[in-house]
Amino acid sequence: MKKISFLNLGKHPITNNFLKTNKPKNEFFYNLKLIYHKETKLVSLDNFVPPKKMFNDKYAHRASASITMQKAYRNLANKIKKKFKPKSILEIGSNDGVFIKYFSNINNVGVEPCKNLADLTSKMKIETYDKFWTFRLSNKILSKHGKFDIIYSANTISHIHNLNETFKAIENSLNSNGIFILEDPSLLKSLQKLSYDQFYDEHAYVFSITALKNITKQSGLEVFNIEELKTHGGSNRVYFKKISNKTIKISNTVNKHLLKEKNFGINNLQTYRIFAKKVLRSRKNLIKIFQKIKKEKKNIIGYGATYKSSTVLNFCKIDKKFIKYFLDTTPTKAGKFTPGTHIPIKRYNGIPSNVDYAFLGAWNFKDEIFKKEKKFIDRGGRFITHVPSPKIL
Ligand code: TYD
Repeated sequence: MKKISFLNLGKHPITNNFLKTNKPKNEFFYNLKLIYHKETKLVSLDNFVPPKKMFNDKYAHRASASITMQKAYRNLANKIKKKFKPKSILEIGSNDGVFIKYFSNINNVGVEPCKNLADLTSKMKIETYDKFWTFRLSNKILSKHGKFDIIYSANTISHIHNLNETFKAIENSLNSNGIFILEDPSLLKSLQKLSYDQFYDEHAYVFSITALKNITKQSGLEVFNIEELKTHGGSNRVYFKKISNKTIKISNTVNKHLLKEKNFGINNLQTYRIFAKKVLRSRKNLIKIFQKIKKEKKNIIGYGATYKSSTVLNFCKIDKKFIKYFLDTTPTKAGKFTPGTHIPIKRYNGIPSNVDYAFLGAWNFKDEIFKKEKKFIDRGGRFITHVPSPKIL
């Protein structure tokens, strides 16, 4: 399969490796390089990081950390119940149970390789397998729970390296009229918003619908509907059925989306070359903003120590020289240091009055944050963002 490299973002750490010290020994770095696969149109990282280095019992991300996400999962659970009336559901990447907990009255099973998270849902009496999703695991689950009406996976399939096995195992676990729902960041949105921070160790792939269509065919799955979401700065919720299931009609959202991607140039290497040039320019301009503010001796902090921000900070070499500390609501991140750039993280308790600027690490929650930080904005506090282009908001 022909792979073409189009952007080298340099050396990067494991994004969820929040450090206990600002002088770590032997911090792991890998080369973050982006690849375009000519035949399938997939966009991926060149070097995959070994899964156990990323997904282990220290995994920091809690899906229920944001109110926006809690509401989104509750609404989706209600929608699925109403629309599909499932009797069984499997979630791949069940995290802290933010979604699967709504299905306690039916056969609900979670798969979550991070044991600290799997333990949380096990305690909620949801049968959870603390294993990586493989064909072998799908057979093991099948023998105990049977096939599923719904398989749901949000922000997880793009993390799994072997996509062929992943989709075959999903097909294997679905009832003949079962539905697989995938949610992952949208490549089209990432390219349009120049959010190169969508690329980091965990995101082995950033999917277009075009690529998903190409790579799932051989697993017997077919896209039949697409919903565009605001989550993670722009995601797609993609509905699959078995190719053999002719009772479900293919919605016109599929062709519409494919056409939109084609018109943007998703199938064209030149699009990625242009993206790469713009990313280099974005880095230059973001550094300029930080340098200017620093010269004025103003206080800059970070807001939301996201995984995404790790790519920006390490790529632009923005460290403690520029950002005093990050504020974050996730309890497990507090008291630690950002990977690679070693900026302290403090538990969020409002923005202190001596802060002049806050770099929006969690730019995907801009609306929620702007509402919450009205006082900061009213007293002249400003946010810095790099999406879609570096600026002070
Ligand atoms: P997330 O959206 O999951 O992004 P990523 O996948 O790139 O890590 O993470 C959001 C982070 O921002 C999470 O650590 C919680 C934090 N956060 C705040 O600190 N305050 C807020 O108001 C919001 C919405 C998020």
